[in-house]
Amino acid sequence: MAERIQIVRATEEGDYEQSAMLLTVNDPWAKLGRTYAYSYDKVHNPEDELIVAKKGERVVGCLLLEMHSTLKAFVRALCVSAEYRSHGIGADLLAFAEHRAFKETANVFLFVSSERGKKFYETNGYQEVGYLKDLNITGVGEWIMRKTIGPNDEVEYNELEILVLDGDAETLEEAIRNAGTAMCKKGLVRDVYAEKCIEREKIFSTGLPTNIPVAIPHTDAKYVNRDCLCFQRMKKPVVAIEIGGTEELPCQMVVNLGMTGAGSQVTMLSKMMEVLQDEAFMNICLTGHPDEVKEEVKKVLGNAML
Ligand SMILES: CC(C)(COP(=O)(O)OP(=O)(O)OC[C@H]1O[C@@H](n2cnc3c(N)ncnc32)[C@H](O)[C@@H]1OP(=O)(O)O)[C@@H](O)C(=O)NCCC(=O)NCCS
Repeated sequence: MAERIQIVRATEEGDYEQSAMLLTVNDPWAKLGRTYAYSYDKVHNPEDELIVAKKGERVVGCLLLEMHSTLKAFVRALCVSAEYRSHGIGADLLAFAEHRAFKETANVFLFVSSERGKKFYETNGYQEVGYLKDLNITGVGEWIMRKTIGPNDEVEYNELEILVLDGDAETLEEAIRNAGTAMCKKGLVRDVYAEKCIEREKIFSTGLPTNIPVAIPHTDAKYVNRDCLCFQRMKKPVVAIEIGGTEELPCQMVVNLGMTGAGSQVTMLSKMMEVLQDEAFMNICLTGHPDEVKEEVKKVLGNAML
């Protein structure tokens, strides 16, 4: 079986050495004349965080994240080995870094000099916010790009965000898309979140056979920016397949989970399976005013990840 590519924070000497090598032999750094020693110093700076894409022991991509620059957070470098490009590794490295960054700040910034690179970042949710003429070399400028989840002072870091929707959908897929759109609008999840939930639902269905059946769609943490839950009360029930089974369950409520850590997702899921059996809690969720629902959910589930 082909070895999986893993995205992890660099810990081993080999991670730093191989990353420095990637940044030495690839453009734009090669064109700028950045030496191995220069890049090794950069990736080894204890103030910064090196994230690597590894196939076994081999580093096939790296991203250097600065959490202490003036532009916090700042992606200093992102590179994927030429033969591994266009397989989503660049986007995954970026998502990993954003995850980390959005726990402390509402912005991720970076500079890019090529039109193609700029397009890649735009596809991944970045917007041009400025242009620096002749930044390193005469005649070569760099665009300043930013991805944001809101104004710094208004984002409540590490808080569980709760959305309450009154949904009208014919199918579970449609309900998941509605939730994904609302969650994405608030910057809580990536734009691919809903489609990834739908893909997962086809393999691992999430219908809970509780007294009042509920579906709890979710996906990998890497598609989530901030911990969140979206409670969607359905005008008419949508069908979900029973978790680990084949029975069709008419669900009056669809709760989309968005957890930024694989561990916190497991904890939240098990806590939810417990509370969704509580009819008093379910009644508030189904009939309460959205503010009342949010308050109740926060009370019951808000500290599930502590
Ligand atoms: C930019 C880069 C990190 C993307 O990594 P990746 O793993 O190929 O990214 P994804 O698979 O998620 O996305 C692929 C897209 O990246 C873009 N891309 C591919 N090669 C690229 C290159 N040499 N330069 C810039 N963008 C590139 C394309 O838009 C591509 O889409 P396509 O496959 O439809 O053509 C990688 O191409 C790279 O390391 N380039 C050289 C270094 C660089 O330019 N870094 C960014 C600016 S500092």
